[in-house]
Amino acid sequence: MKRLNIENYFDYAATTPLLPTVFTRMQPYFTNLFGNPSSAHRFGQQAYGAVEDARNILLDHFHITNPDNLIFTGSSTEACNTILWGTVFQYWKIYGKPGRLLISPLEHSAVNETAKFLQDAGFCIIDQLPVNQYGQVDPDDVRKMIRSDTVLVSVIYGNNEIGTINPIPEIARVCKEKGIPFHTDATQYVAHNQIDFGNSEISMMNIAAHKCYGPKGTGAILLGNGVENFLPFIHGGKQENGKRAGTHNVPYIVGMAAAYQILDNEFDKRIQFERQKRDLLIQLISENIPDCLLTGHPTERLTNHASFAFKGIDSLVLQSLLDQKGFAVSIGSACRSSKIHGQQQLIDIGLSSEWANGGLRITVGIYTTDDAIYSLVNALKRSIRILRRS
Ligand SMILES: Cc1ncc(COP(=O)(O)O)c(C=O)c1O
Repeated sequence: MKRLNIENYFDYAATTPLLPTVFTRMQPYFTNLFGNPSSAHRFGQQAYGAVEDARNILLDHFHITNPDNLIFTGSSTEACNTILWGTVFQYWKIYGKPGRLLISPLEHSAVNETAKFLQDAGFCIIDQLPVNQYGQVDPDDVRKMIRSDTVLVSVIYGNNEIGTINPIPEIARVCKEKGIPFHTDATQYVAHNQIDFGNSEISMMNIAAHKCYGPKGTGAILLGNGVENFLPFIHGGKQENGKRAGTHNVPYIVGMAAAYQILDNEFDKRIQFERQKRDLLIQLISENIPDCLLTGHPTERLTNHASFAFKGIDSLVLQSLLDQKGFAVSIGSACRSSKIHGQQQLIDIGLSSEWANGGLRITVGIYTTDDAIYSLVNALKRSIRILRRS
């Protein structure tokens, strides 16, 4: 087995390494500044100040004016659960029957599995939007499929497995016209794009820190203006204005704000860098490996994201061969790559199992080098040749 080298890490969509500067900003809140932000004494007030400073940085980043419109959570998954449960329960409480959730088939499991759980429990009925061959939702389909009992439309912003970006502003506009709340899971998208959320027509959006060189295990819900009757998912203390109970994870919240502040400062440079690496990867793989297909949209895709299907290949075996050579790639979402085979999302965009079983996600980031890309493509080429011969 080859030693692990960060240059050979090609799984930035699963998670990113914590930036040393982010860690430096977090550190005091593990040690000296350990207070509970809900405590009235000065130890507590120091911690409270750190949480509110972090909130202000994020409000600024997303152009939100009302501080109540940003709710810290323990992850993006928790944020999605909160949004789906809350919306479905509101309807259930009033009408005593299940409302309809209109979602795309290519949602992350944080949305998909939550929706299925709620449907199985009898609290909602899922309506599934069609997608095109790139996995994109058409706003006109959203318009056609919204019903009088639709409680929420939820469409992922930037797809974690195939990198495709959905036309979210247009979908949000349709939902606004129809008077239906609209949620987008922007966990991947916000790490590579700047969003004027405060002036958008999105009702609810969730983010995390760990796709953007911040810590794992922290996230947030962003609420649009005019979103009322938000129901908390976690009950207990009155933190987050009663919208999310539980002692704040101060160092992680500080780390999340630092990560997005640094993204702001280096945005153009970082995006240009990752786009160059992504494009080199796509070009080399397309030119060097026969029977391969770029999955997801060719241009409207996350700037760090390349994903391919290799005909006749079992991507679990391919991933493992590459791992032995020291390269970290993914067969899809990190949440399921160890469990499920079959690349459901690739089937959903119309690929036969001969192609879909060979799906591979390769995502780049700040430590990626051109040399590592050339080495990865060589290793990929050799591994695929061996697998196709056997
Ligand atoms: C699109 C998307 N949504 C949600 C999540 C879940 O985020 P977290 O790890 O913060 O729960 C992920 C993480 O992989 C993701 O990529």
